[in-house]
Amino acid sequence: MLKIDVPTRRGVLALLAAGLIFPSRSLRAETPAMHVHKDPDCGCCGGWVDHLRSAGFAVTVDETSELTAIRTRLRVPPALSSCHTAEVAGYAIEGHVPAEAIRRLLETRPTAFGLAVPGMPTGSPGMEGGTPVAYDVILFAAGGQRPFMRFIGTKSIG
Ligand code: CU
Ligand code: CU
Repeated sequence: MLKIDVPTRRGVLALLAAGLIFPSRSLRAETPAMHVHKDPDCGCCGGWVDHLRSAGFAVTVDETSELTAIRTRLRVPPALSSCHTAEVAGYAIEGHVPAEAIRRLLETRPTAFGLAVPGMPTGSPGMEGGTPVAYDVILFAAGGQRPFMRFIGTKSIG
């Protein structure tokens, strides 16, 4: 039989003191649940998932060949498509978007469908290996799209 420990009053106080029961707002903001849809045969998506996990995101992965249907459901504009699509806190995240941009999205909560890095820019997280190029993270919404942040590699440059 499964035995469930009921924490003692003293135990609860100790956990509170350690910040484990009510972690600070900033700590929770670093670990939202992220669900990634990816093709089982695509390796760079795995590199991006590793990048998210080391940045503190809790990531679950769905291996699928239905990415086009998923992008349509999440209202990712076809011109912004990349190799994988994720969902976090009601937003879509398309392609090799750096964790820093996702964190800013979750902090500022703009009215939008999500963020995208179209294509697969060299040096973006999961696309390491060549000479990094500058690329934009695009915010897309019902009314259109605009540059949200700009990066080289995982370094924000504007
Ligand atoms: Cu990729
Ligand atoms: Cu990918």
